[in-house]
Amino acid sequence: MNTIEDINGQKLPKHLAIIMDGNGRWAKQKGKFRVFGHENGVKTVRSTVESCVRIGLEYLTLYTFSTENWNRPKIEVDTLMRLLVSSLKKELKTFNKNNVRLNTIGDIKSLPNRAYIELVEVMEKTKGNTGMTLTLALSYGAREELKNAVQQIAVKVKNNIISPESIDETIINNHLYTQNLPDVDLLIRTSGEHRISNFLLWQIAYAELYFIDVFWPDFKEQHLVEAIINYQNRERRFGKTSEQLN
Ligand code: IPE
Ligand code: IPE
Ligand code: MG
Repeated sequence: MNTIEDINGQKLPKHLAIIMDGNGRWAKQKGKFRVFGHENGVKTVRSTVESCVRIGLEYLTLYTFSTENWNRPKIEVDTLMRLLVSSLKKELKTFNKNNVRLNTIGDIKSLPNRAYIELVEVMEKTKGNTGMTLTLALSYGAREELKNAVQQIAVKVKNNIISPESIDETIINNHLYTQNLPDVDLLIRTSGEHRISNFLLWQIAYAELYFIDVFWPDFKEQHLVEAIINYQNRERRFGKTSEQLN
C-alpha cells in the first residue's frame, strides 16, 4: 500500500478537483437515510482537506452543490445547507491552523442567507492564508458560468470596452468564476459514475480524469494517494507526440 511518502513532490498536480459523489447510496447501503450519508461525507471532506495540505497541493476544488442539485427534495437541500453552515463554523480554526484559504465558485448569493454570510466570513478570515486554496463549488454549474462570462463580455463589446476580435482564451478565462485558479490537472470522481455533471467544463479541457468506485464517505487518504500516483505515471502530451516530450 502506498503512502504520502511515495508521492513524487516534484510532480504534484497543481490543481486537484473532486466530484464528491455517492453519499446517498452509501447511506442506503447501510439502511440509513441520505442525510446520514451527507454527514459522513462532511467527515471525508475534512480528512481529504488535511491530506491535501500534508501532500502539499496548492489548489483543491470540491464540487459541493450543483445548480442541478436545487432540484432535489427540499428537505435534502435544507439538510445540505445546514451541514454547510455547521461545518464552516467548525472548520474555520482548522483552516487557519493549516494555512488554508477558503474560496468559492458558483452563484453563492442564491444560497440561504445564513450560508452566504458564513461563507463570506470564513473567506474574509482566511484570506491572508498562503498555503492551499480550498475552493468550494456551491450552486455551481459550468454552463451557467460560461453563460455569465458570455454576457459580461457581450456588454463590454457593446460599450466598446473590447473589440470582438480581441476576445481570446485569456479574456474568456478572466470572466469565469475560476479566473484566479489554474486549470485543473487531475479530476477525481467517486462512486463509480463516469460523468462530469456540469463541473468545470472549460477548466478540465486537459485534465487527467480518475474514476474510483468507492462512495465518497468511504474515500480515504490511501485512495487519494493512489489517484495522485496514478496521475504521476501518466504522460500528459497536450497534443504533442511522446518523442517531442523527451
Ligand atoms: C454527493 O452524493 C453529494 C451531493 C451531490 C450534494 P449524492 O447525494 O449525489 O449521493 P448519490 O449519488 O445519490 O449516492
Ligand atoms: C454532482 O453529483 C454534484 C456534486 C457532487 C455536488 P450528482 O450526484 O448531483 O450528479 P448526477 O446528477 O448524478 O450526475
Ligand atoms: Mg450523486
